[in-house]
Amino acid sequence: MNSTNKGVLFVCLGNICRSPLAEAIARHKFIQAGLDLPLASAGTGDWHVGHGADERACDVATRHGYSLATHNARQVAVADFDRYDWVLGMDRSNLQHLQQMRPAHSTARVGLMLELAGLDDPLEVPDPYFGDDDGFLAVLELLERAVDGLTERIVAS
Ligand code: 4NP
Repeated sequence: MNSTNKGVLFVCLGNICRSPLAEAIARHKFIQAGLDLPLASAGTGDWHVGHGADERACDVATRHGYSLATHNARQVAVADFDRYDWVLGMDRSNLQHLQQMRPAHSTARVGLMLELAGLDDPLEVPDPYFGDDDGFLAVLELLERAVDGLTERIVAS
């Protein structure tokens, strides 16, 4: 059993690279682990609202058996802190934004994705947007490890 039923929101800056990849990987791995939870992703910024995922993220996802085909970027909202049990930022800047938005009454677990997944090196998922394809592959591999850790953590909670 696990103590979460409201699920997990993954948050990055643009909601077109890191957090949609985290969501897609979790969608895949949680099902394998028998976890049936709502999953979503959002960005702290609004530049890409309504856009699909970055083409480089789509390509690396497809090559590894995940799909970002239906992704529709959105911005994180105050109501998300009631809608989800876990609100996970990809880097410290995302987390700082989330902590500033978080309503005082919220019981959501808000933290760094990698830290809550039990990883501490690195502690942040690097932003691949201004880099090359290798950066997207590195992010995907890091997020696969992180989702494994998060799955264990949620199953045990
Ligand atoms: P993400 O990457 O936060 O992983 O989705 C980015 C996407 C877009 C921008 C920055 C980071 N941007 O500056 O538009």
